[in-house]
Amino acid sequence: MSASSHHSDLVKKADEAAEALRGVVGDHPPQVAVVLGSGLNGLVERFTDRMVVPYSQIPHFPTVTVDGHAGNAVIGSVDGGASALILQGRFHYYEGHDLRAITFPMRMLQRLGVQTVILTAATGGIRADLRPGNLVCLSDHINLIGSNPLRGPADPRLGARFPDMSEVYSKRLRTAAKEEAKRLGVHLVSAVYACLAGPSYETPAEIRMLRTLGADVVGMSTVPEAIVARQAGMEVLGLALVTNAAAGVAASPIRHEDVLEAGRKATPMLGKLIRRMVLRLAGVAPGNVGFSGEFPTYRQD
Ligand code: HPA
Repeated sequence: MSASSHHSDLVKKADEAAEALRGVVGDHPPQVAVVLGSGLNGLVERFTDRMVVPYSQIPHFPTVTVDGHAGNAVIGSVDGGASALILQGRFHYYEGHDLRAITFPMRMLQRLGVQTVILTAATGGIRADLRPGNLVCLSDHINLIGSNPLRGPADPRLGARFPDMSEVYSKRLRTAAKEEAKRLGVHLVSAVYACLAGPSYETPAEIRMLRTLGADVVGMSTVPEAIVARQAGMEVLGLALVTNAAAGVAASPIRHEDVLEAGRKATPMLGKLIRRMVLRLAGVAPGNVGFSGEFPTYRQD
């Protein structure tokens, strides 16, 4: 297969996946998508009038293999009628898929015309003030996976060959999320996310290295999707739950069950914040000034 047909394949596949969802939502899909991280699947219950499309019914979607990750695209509403497309279950590099496969859902969103994506994740807290149960708003990331999801032939329909990454996580959405968190009485601080391939958790020496590099939280997801979403011109909000102290920060070992449990416990709080953000992005929540219409300085062509 030639390089260019490989990439046009991606556009064609993303179109076919988008078509499967259009069959359910019609020609006006939600403008906001939410990707749920480990232990956060229960967040869909915060949405009403749900329509569920199992990933197995979406062409070209990889298979979900991790505990704590369901595999569904869910279209739901929040009171006030704003709707969102929730991706319940995500794909990780450590499952063995390549980066292009794990970010395929972002390509589907791009072809669907989704404008905003809220990425959620479970993370280990590196910075001393972060405690399990804290929620952070990603201000930036460090990609330490060792590759990039945009590697491969260029196709202008996917976005720029060398997309700017100076504001991956939209400042406008970060400010909005902080305002909404404040209204809800939720403590929301900014954090830099370091993404490693996993699936082993880090060593204490690796965590010291990450701290030196300027990382506040560490995880195994989010960054590939954020990169693709930015290339695709979507506006990104990253909300990460600190599920545990990173290796060596506290005395205890890190267990996947505890990560999932912390996720479940924080689901109501995160759910409230995401509902407020969905309402706000739809222009139906209080304090929505400046939150409808075009964003010419942010979107990439
Ligand atoms: N490290 C990497 N990924 C994680 C962690 C961690 O400590 N906790 C939840 N996801």
